[in-house]
Formats: sequence, structure tokens, C-alpha cells
Amino acid sequence: MNAALDTPGPLPAPAIALRHATGVEGLTIPQLGLGTYKVSDDDAHRTVSQALEIGYRHIDTAQMYGNEAGVGRALAASGLPRDDLFITSKLNNPNHRRADAMRSFDETMDRLGLDVLDLFLVHWPLAASEGIDLVETWETMGEILSTGRVRAVGVSNHRPWHLRRIIEATGLTPAVNQIELHPYLRQDELRALHAELGVVTESWSPLGRSRLLHDPDLARLAAELGVTPAQVVIRWHLQHGIVVIPKSVHVERMRANADVFSFTLDAQAMGAIDALDRGLRTGSHPDEVQL
Ligand SMILES: NC(=O)c1ccc[n+]([C@@H]2O[C@H](COP(=O)([O-])OP(=O)(O)OC[C@H]3O[C@@H](n4cnc5c(N)ncnc54)[C@H](OP(=O)(O)O)[C@@H]3O)[C@@H](O)[C@H]2O)c1
Repeated sequence: MNAALDTPGPLPAPAIALRHATGVEGLTIPQLGLGTYKVSDDDAHRTVSQALEIGYRHIDTAQMYGNEAGVGRALAASGLPRDDLFITSKLNNPNHRRADAMRSFDETMDRLGLDVLDLFLVHWPLAASEGIDLVETWETMGEILSTGRVRAVGVSNHRPWHLRRIIEATGLTPAVNQIELHPYLRQDELRALHAELGVVTESWSPLGRSRLLHDPDLARLAAELGVTPAQVVIRWHLQHGIVVIPKSVHVERMRANADVFSFTLDAQAMGAIDALDRGLRTGSHPDEVQL
């Protein structure tokens, strides 16, 4: 066990600098956070409260998840200073047009009970949806940034051509691209482009929605190291410099998923995990998501 987790206080997770689309100089994102997809509004209150007690300070929610109010109640009840927290939400698919984006951002802030959000992402690119324009949506995100009510804006599920198109059209590079990424889906092309552009890579479904936890190679590696497969996978993300947001509603799993700072994976182990890539998506392909 990591002794730091037995006492209240933030996890010893490194922070990663956000280089673009921020309104605050020197803004950073904690590299390990808690995902909340499929957590109900009621459960979000309990789960996020427990996560904050364990030491998580970075919470990932979305308009689509229907749990921003529960997350907000947990943040308020925690009594933690606002500046110690990093809260992300995401623009839902029906809200891409300018007026809807502005209104829904206000609603997000009301539900979360925050004056300032840390990161607001375009959840899906919706490039194939009639009447939706990637560039207009991204321009609106820039407008929301300029209000000062969000510290950074970014995107999610954007493929290389989506990124190039919105950057070329607006001159504004997203702070983050949150994408499906795990050892079965390494996303080399996007990671290389992010590195070139200075976009921070954030993994969603970092455990492959638990599919990775049944992998025999990972189980063997975990047993050798005396840790769990989930801890090995989370450590792999961290050592690749990726922001990682595993989701659990179970307190012991949340604690274990955060207890990943007392061991390291050597180059051979990292290479063996890299070799598990099989192009497996557990969620939707960005080209398939439409309004
Ligand atoms: N931007 C996007 O389009 C997008 C899409 C999907 C997800 N996300 C974000 O990314 C977050 C993470 O992705 P995800 O929730 O899809 O999947 P995930 O984090 O890869 O996996 C979550 C699953 O693994 C289980 N689990 C977690 N820790 C475990 C452990 N230590 N041992 C055994 N099982 C464990 C959880 O079960 P229990 O909860 O029952 O413990 C849950 O079933 C989401 O919650 C959401 O915030 C974003």
C-alpha cells in the first residue's frame, strides 16, 4: 500500500502542463483522475466524495453522463479549496450549435455549482452530421474560453484530420484530446500528432472497460510485480506521459487504482504491454457517432 493514501491529501500524481487553449498561465492537469461514465447522479455524489477522500483531485464528467449535479454536490460537500480540484466536463452532441453550446455550458456550471470550470471538451466531432460544423463548434469553445469561466478548452474523439481542420481554421490548438486508448488500442498516430502539436493526450476507457483485466500476459506481469492487472495498466499510461481517468464506483478499486506510485514498469515490461496492441475499440468509432 502507498502510505500517502492512508492520510488525507492529494495523490502523488504528477501534473502535466497544458500548452494551448488556456486562459491561465502555467495551468496543469493532474495525470490521474476519476472517470464517471455510467455513474448515476445519486452514485456520483457518493463515489466522488470517496474519491476525494482517497486523494483524487481530478474528476471527469460530461453533460451526456447526467451526473454533473451529483459531482457538484460532492465537490461542495468536500470543503476542499477550489484551486486544489481539476474538473472536466464535455459538450453533449445535441449542443454543438453556438446558442446551444452557450446555454448548455451555463447549465453545466449551474449543475456543478462552479464559477469556473477547469476543462471543457467537445465530446464527439460529429463531422458527418448535417448542419453541424466542426469549426463553428470549436470557435464557440474559444468564445467560452474568452469569458474566463473555463480555464482550458479541448476536444475528445478527434481524429488527425479533425484536429488539423479546426486548428487551421481558427488558429486555436486544443489543450487536450481525450480518446479511447489502452494497451489493446495504442493510438500511435494520434499520440505522435499530439506530441507534434503540443496537445495533451488523455485516455478514456484506460482499462478497456475492464477487458484488459482478464489478459493472461498482464496477469502474469502483475503477479511478478505483486500488483494487480489494473495497476499495471494504469502505470503503463502514466509512464507513457498520458493523462488517465479509470472509473470505478467501488472504494477499494478506486484506492487500488490510485496506488500506482510505489512501483515502476521497466523497459521490457513497457515493451511487452505495448506489444498487446490489436486495434480493439471498446467504444464507438468517432466516424460513427452522429446527431
Ligand atoms: N470522451 C469520451 O467519449 C469517453 C468515452 C468513454 C469514457 N470516457 C471517460 O473515461 C472514463 C473511463 O472509461 P470507462 O469508464 O469507459 O472504462 P474503464 O475506466 O476502462 O473501465 C471501467 C470498468 O472497469 C471496472 N474497474 C475499474 N477498476 C477496476 C479494478 N481495479 N478491478 C476490477 N475492475 C475495475 C469498473 O467497474 P466498477 O465501477 O464496478 O468498479 C468498470 O466496469 C469514463 O468513466 C469517462 O469519464 C470518455
